[in-house]
Amino acid sequence: MDENVRPLVSADAVDLEERKIESALRPRTLAEFGGQRRVSEQLELVLHAARGRRRAPDHVLLSGPPGLGKTTLAMIIAAELSAPLRVTSGPAIQHAGDLAAILSGLSEGEVLFLDEIHRMSRPAEELLYMAMEDFRVDVIVGKGPGATAIPLEIPPFTLVGATTRAGLLPGPLRDRFGFTGHLEFYAAAELEKIVNRSAALLDVDITPEAATEIASRSRGTPRIANRLLRRVRDYAEVRADGIVTIALSKAALDLYEVDRMGLDRLDRAVLDALCRRFGGGPVGLSTLAVAVGEERETVEEVAEPFLVRSGYLARTPRGRVATPAAWRHLGLTVPKGATFADTLFDADDE
Ligand SMILES: Nc1ncnc2c1ncn2[C@@H]1O[C@H](COP(=O)(O)OP(=O)(O)OP(=O)(O)O)[C@@H](O)[C@H]1O
Ligand SMILES: [Mg+2]
Repeated sequence: MDENVRPLVSADAVDLEERKIESALRPRTLAEFGGQRRVSEQLELVLHAARGRRRAPDHVLLSGPPGLGKTTLAMIIAAELSAPLRVTSGPAIQHAGDLAAILSGLSEGEVLFLDEIHRMSRPAEELLYMAMEDFRVDVIVGKGPGATAIPLEIPPFTLVGATTRAGLLPGPLRDRFGFTGHLEFYAAAELEKIVNRSAALLDVDITPEAATEIASRSRGTPRIANRLLRRVRDYAEVRADGIVTIALSKAALDLYEVDRMGLDRLDRAVLDALCRRFGGGPVGLSTLAVAVGEERETVEEVAEPFLVRSGYLARTPRGRVATPAAWRHLGLTVPKGATFADTLFDADDE
């Protein structure tokens, strides 16, 4: 997917510059990591127990949508264990040999962060099973019938895997993690704290009401909250004295077309077409895409997930349907005769 379709409310990191800023804004300890109470508490226990036993903790899998803190938590795990961290990713491991080289180079207790673990190749995955379970890999020497497998011991390490698509992980791989943390979207109050914290780190003067406003438009995602904060700061510096107030926040975010629920131009165009042109649906995805002048995939993968999650749009076997909340969000009266998802047979809102 083209990450630049919507630079402001994309949950993915947009560019290298953003990644640099993100690393500066990352909390370094569990105590500093706001939100995700359950995962954070569970992890705290896992890490505490491991420290007490002076052993590498069980392997940890972190799953959840982009921008919620998986990479951040992986780094925190290493920091909390005072262990060195090695970072790699599924797509970077083309061959099993690449992984064998990384694994055999680990030191005792090291944390190996394997990002996008669902994108690793099958042979590498199989090698990983053995490494995770027995701290051993078989290195294949030679080719064809003369090839032999030489077992190689690797020191106990902790694998931290991250994935946005836990469903794509094969069962045997998932089962080898001793702990799985599923990250959820953040509540507004949690995001508000994150906005305040980031503002302090970036030396931005912000009023509490402005932080609330920015948080409420951030789609439950810290990455987006941090990005909106930076855009509002730009606005406040150029158009005012740099102090981020609620009035400035609203003006800036309206200018950038991020509305009070965090919907952007594309999201609203989809809802608008659905309600005004198709009477609230049901309407087929292709027809809807043509109406907003976008590719089918863009509507389906970029706009719809958040619209569905926020309860504005439902995907049904007969097509897309606007919910009463969608009509209200657009400032329209909910029509009497409209068909809603709950009246449609076999609604499938995946
Ligand atoms: N709980 C949190 N408290 C404060 N900041 C956070 C928190 N979670 C995430 N962030 C911030 O949000 C940004 C994105 O987080 P991170 O890179 O960890 O997300 P991710 O889940 O790894 O995303 P992706 O799936 O794209 O790799 C970082 O700048 C990080 O500082
Ligand atoms: Mg990440």
